[in-house]
Amino acid sequence: MHATHDDARVENLLSAELLGFLACRTPGAWVEWALANPELLLIDHAQCEKKAASTAMSLLYRYVDKPLLLSKMSQLAREELLHFEQVVKLMESRGIVYRHIKASRYAEGLRQAVRPQDPERLVDILIIGAFIEARSCERFACLIPHLDDELAKFYRTLVKSEGRHYEDYLMLARHLGSEPIAPRIAFFAEREASLITSPDTAFRFHSGVPY
Ligand SMILES: [Fe+2]
Ligand SMILES: [Fe+2]
Repeated sequence: MHATHDDARVENLLSAELLGFLACRTPGAWVEWALANPELLLIDHAQCEKKAASTAMSLLYRYVDKPLLLSKMSQLAREELLHFEQVVKLMESRGIVYRHIKASRYAEGLRQAVRPQDPERLVDILIIGAFIEARSCERFACLIPHLDDELAKFYRTLVKSEGRHYEDYLMLARHLGSEPIAPRIAFFAEREASLITSPDTAFRFHSGVPY
């Protein structure tokens, strides 16, 4: 079976807006890499959910004077922890042992470009959050046609909630910045797409393509 992202079932799961936000689609080579590494996929997925909760929590600590951010991020952190529990449970039922693995270069590759001063720092972190959520959504949708029923059903629920997270991050970036965010979106879109399409050393949920 050749993995492809042109599948109509994939397109139906994703909004045109989300697809327009991302500068590239996931390469078919990544989908094939994922299908060849089902255990790593789930272990790294669990890591990503935990990290997503922790990123939201750190914003709660740093930006206590922004009520909209506090309510959105606290809700988001709870949802990510719920996803984390669901992945861990699924791994357990499949006999997959949860072990420490190195994070992919992806999030760090985006974070390196964050401007040091607020509010620019916050806006950049929020835009990166939107990219990570949008990409996760797009990758779940790419995988769904190739997965077993249980995992496909779970990933369909995640496409919905990560899609909302993408919208929330973007909305917060628009509200909390002091300048139009389009140039920063364009900047990160290009950086993100190059992390997604270039060769990568190890398979991860957000990795590039095999060497
Ligand atoms: Fe999640
Ligand atoms: Fe999320």
